[in-house]
Amino acid sequence: MNPHDPAKTRLIVALDVDTLDAAAHLVERLGAAVEWYKVGKQLFTRHGPAAVRLLKEAGKRVFLDLKFHDIPNTVAQAVRSAAAIGADLTNVHASGGPSMLRAAAQAGRESGILVTAVTVLTSMDQAELAAVGVDLDPAQQVVRLAVLSRDCGISGVVCSPLEVPLIRLACGPDFVLVVPGIRPAGSGSDDQKRIMTPGQAAAAGTDFIVVGRPITAAPDALAAASAILAELA
Ligand code: C5P
Repeated sequence: MNPHDPAKTRLIVALDVDTLDAAAHLVERLGAAVEWYKVGKQLFTRHGPAAVRLLKEAGKRVFLDLKFHDIPNTVAQAVRSAAAIGADLTNVHASGGPSMLRAAAQAGRESGILVTAVTVLTSMDQAELAAVGVDLDPAQQVVRLAVLSRDCGISGVVCSPLEVPLIRLACGPDFVLVVPGIRPAGSGSDDQKRIMTPGQAAAAGTDFIVVGRPITAAPDALAAASAILAELA
C-alpha cells in the first residue's frame, strides 16, 4: 500500500538558463503558480549565489542541485554554505560513503536545510557501473545507496520515476523522493529516456517532481506549468 497522497506532490521548475535575466523573466511569468525552483550547475556556475538571491527575493523556495561529492568535512561545510545563501533543499552523492553522508545530514539538521542524495546517475547503465567496479545491477545499487542514505540520516533521494516504487518500499513513507524525467502526456521526451507523466509520478508516491524544458521551452510557460499542476491536484 502506498500511503503517499498524490495531491501533496509539489512541482519544482528546473531553472536551466544561462542568465539571471532569463531566470527572472521566467519566475515573473510563472508568478504565484510556482513556489519551488531548482538552481543547478549551469546557472550557479555562471552566477553563483545571485541566482538563489533572486529567487528568495521573489519569495520562492530553492533546490540547490550541486550534487556535492568530497570528503566529509568539505561536504558538510558546503551544505552549511548552501543553507547560508538561502537554499531550502540541496543534495550530495550517496556514493561519497557513510561518513560523508552522516556529516552532510548533520550539517543539514544544524543549518536548517533539507539534504537529499543522488544514488546512481540515470545516465549510467550496467556497463558503466561495471566500469567503475560496481557489479550490482543499477536497480540494486540504487536501493542499496538509498537505504544507506536513509540510515545515515539523509532525508531522501533524487531518483528516476521508475525507481520510485522500489525506493518507497525500501525506505518508507517519510523518505523524500525528488523525481526528474517528467513529461506531460503528448509532449516530446527531449533526451529523457525513462519518463512518467506528472500524474503517474504523483500516483507512484513522488514528493517533488522536477520539470525543466516542458515548462521553460514552452511557448507559454505559465500555461504549461498550470497544466502540470492541474494533473497533480
Ligand atoms: O528539462 P528537463 O525536464 O529534462 O529537466 C530535468 C532537470 O532535472 C534537469 O535540470 C536535469 O539536469 C535534472 N536531472 C535529470 N535526471 C536526473 C537528475 C537530474 O533530468 N537523473
